[in-house]
Amino acid sequence: MELKPSGSLKIDTFSMRVGDIESVELDRLHALSLSVGWPHRAEDWQFLRESGEGFVALDEIGRVLGSAMWFAHGADFATVGMVITSPRLQTLGAGQWLMKRVFENVVGCDLRLNATRAARRLYLSLDFQPEKTVYQCQGIARMQTTGRPAKSRGDVRTLDAGDIPAAIALDAAGFGVRRAALIEKLFAHSAGYGLFKGDKLNAFALCRPFGRGHVVGPVVAESDADAVAIVRPHVADHSGSFLRIDTHMDNGEFAAFLAHSGMPVFDTVLTMSLGKRLADFAVGDATTPVTYALASQTLG
Ligand SMILES: CC(C)(COP(=O)(O)OP(=O)(O)OC[C@H]1O[C@@H](n2cnc3c(N)ncnc32)[C@H](O)[C@@H]1OP(=O)(O)O)[C@@H](O)C(=O)NCCC(=O)NCCS
Repeated sequence: MELKPSGSLKIDTFSMRVGDIESVELDRLHALSLSVGWPHRAEDWQFLRESGEGFVALDEIGRVLGSAMWFAHGADFATVGMVITSPRLQTLGAGQWLMKRVFENVVGCDLRLNATRAARRLYLSLDFQPEKTVYQCQGIARMQTTGRPAKSRGDVRTLDAGDIPAAIALDAAGFGVRRAALIEKLFAHSAGYGLFKGDKLNAFALCRPFGRGHVVGPVVAESDADAVAIVRPHVADHSGSFLRIDTHMDNGEFAAFLAHSGMPVFDTVLTMSLGKRLADFAVGDATTPVTYALASQTLG
């Protein structure tokens, strides 16, 4: 006579080891981010792997159960991102374990990240301090048909490789840290518009394929009107398709423009830092470049 199997089964917990993120196949990373509902494509992971460094958590048979990355800009500053643990493992300490492996590799660096709601407690427990809310604005882009556009100061033109040094300098002034390699790499994957006065680049906005469609960022400008002037052509280019932009701006002409362009606030994350803060949220004078949109939540 066969025994009836029990209705429940206790499975032992298993151990994990840490591995280099370069050592695993792209589709496994893609499966990990899909498991937590993130929109990244395999190509987005590849872009991030080429731009930074990271770890994965692997089980005994090589399944990817977690990830954490960092993106260093110079010797003193890095952003942290793609911190994921597989849903079955969450709240068991794997997130902390991965973050501590990251810390070992960024000794002496000030750190910044953008924390999802699920991750805030993890980062608070690691002494990260809240800075400012990021508004993830997205939807089907549409050109505004009503209203008179505010006056920007200059001519809007498409960007090319010759504009990279000026964009790097503007980004550094807005963000607070020079990100030359990242901006150069973003240029290679993006379409860009710049606001010029004569030959001088005063503002720029890049836009590249990402997730469900395209993402606009970074956007650096000196005023809401200038920021709108360089984002508007990207909205026109992608009218009728999915467009996303991550911004710290919660009011004013730029925030209103996004909502009226089919990109209302979809979600928020919280910018947090460990160590010295960047100066980008300080109120500058009227001619200080400001980061109007992040390169992405992961990259800052
Ligand atoms: C955020 C995330 C990486 C946390 O990983 P984790 O493996 O659960 O983290 P840990 O188990 O190490 O937890 C660290 C702390 O957060 C707490 N915590 C984790 N998840 C929690 C939850 N859902 N609710 C309440 N507390 C939670 C833990 O209890 C622990 O607190 P303690 O130090 O006071 O004990 C994981 O939930 C995840 O992948 N979420 C989806 C993707 C995501 O949002 N990533 C963050 C990107 S910024």
